[in-house]
Amino acid sequence: MSNEKFIALSLPNIAGNEWKYVKDCLDTGWISSVGSYVTQFEQMVADFAGAKYGVAAVNGTAALHISLLLSGVKQHDYVILPNLTFVASANSIKYLGADPLLIDADPNLWQMDLDLLEEFLENETDEKDGYLFYIKDGRRIGAIMPVHILGNMCDMDRFLSIVKKYPLPIVEDATESLGTTYKGVSAGKFSPLACFSFNGNKIISTGGGGVIVTDDEALAKHAKHLTTTAKASADEYYHDEVGYNYRLVNVLAAIGVGQMELLPSFIKRKKECVAFYKKELTGVADIRFQQELPGVETNGWLFTIQTDKQQQLLDHLNKNKILSRRFWMPMNKLPMYKDCVYVQKKDNSDYIYNTCLSIPSSTSITDEELTIVVDEIKAAIG
Ligand SMILES: Cc1ncc(COP(=O)(O)O)c(C=O)c1O
Repeated sequence: MSNEKFIALSLPNIAGNEWKYVKDCLDTGWISSVGSYVTQFEQMVADFAGAKYGVAAVNGTAALHISLLLSGVKQHDYVILPNLTFVASANSIKYLGADPLLIDADPNLWQMDLDLLEEFLENETDEKDGYLFYIKDGRRIGAIMPVHILGNMCDMDRFLSIVKKYPLPIVEDATESLGTTYKGVSAGKFSPLACFSFNGNKIISTGGGGVIVTDDEALAKHAKHLTTTAKASADEYYHDEVGYNYRLVNVLAAIGVGQMELLPSFIKRKKECVAFYKKELTGVADIRFQQELPGVETNGWLFTIQTDKQQQLLDHLNKNKILSRRFWMPMNKLPMYKDCVYVQKKDNSDYIYNTCLSIPSSTSITDEELTIVVDEIKAAIG
């Protein structure tokens, strides 16, 4: 079967009531940052993740920025972060004048390597007056940001047992993992504040958008306050701290409400795609898959394979109108983050970057398109 049509990586799938709800916003004039859809959307996301409160934001990056701020991260702090992540995680740290402190990836899970994390915390940090410091330069470590990379998770029990020995607030970058669970607990439930993203390639999309989830009412209120320019009076322009114009607008949240109604069907479709790819690609050339730990149910967000023939496969697929992408470039390779502390032994991030590629995983992908993708992978390297 030859491929006539371009097959995208991860497209938004507008298949439900989105048009109806957006039209409602346009017809009634409720298009901006106040309106019933935005409150409904943030609650739907919170409910889905099993959290009490949701606070909508313009995107996942803004949600992370506010969550770090509320966790007490200050200028000149470090925030522990996996080296292998999308740049927005690191940027959200930089927005506060803090620096990421990078931990290499586990070679099989592609998440933060917990052995390295544990060793680092044990040997290279010191606790004083209820805070944690990096011994080498005396700077404070203000928080840790685990990222559920590709909608997968590390051993969260072990992660929590390591981290709870230290005064280290956790902010989960759950941007890719709406619908993922660990031993039945949803991504976003492992930290006091966690963030989801709804940009164009996520499992549901509002075009651009994010939600902070939390069980803490005071944190939720403060997050909403900060995302709405910290306006402290209903009838006057009185603002009591430096706030941000970060609230998601109603018209985009209307898309989100339609998308949330579809989320269970999207997760089902992603899982079918993962099962198909795994079945068809097992044993093909040197292809390996991201390992999933027992107890982890991923949302199958973006299927990614590993092969030493990465470049050959990328070239072939893209030439045949099948969009495939290398992994993100690790943070220590980007000009802004190349001088950050990087805890590593074998630089697994570099190897993962040079061997992994994501393949089409849209929820709207047809069975025929999945077959084309698999056939072309086999043609290229099989
Ligand atoms: C790991 C990770 N962190 C943060 C973000 C930022 O989300 P957004 O694009 O909504 O700002 C994304 C998504 O792009 C992401 O994949």
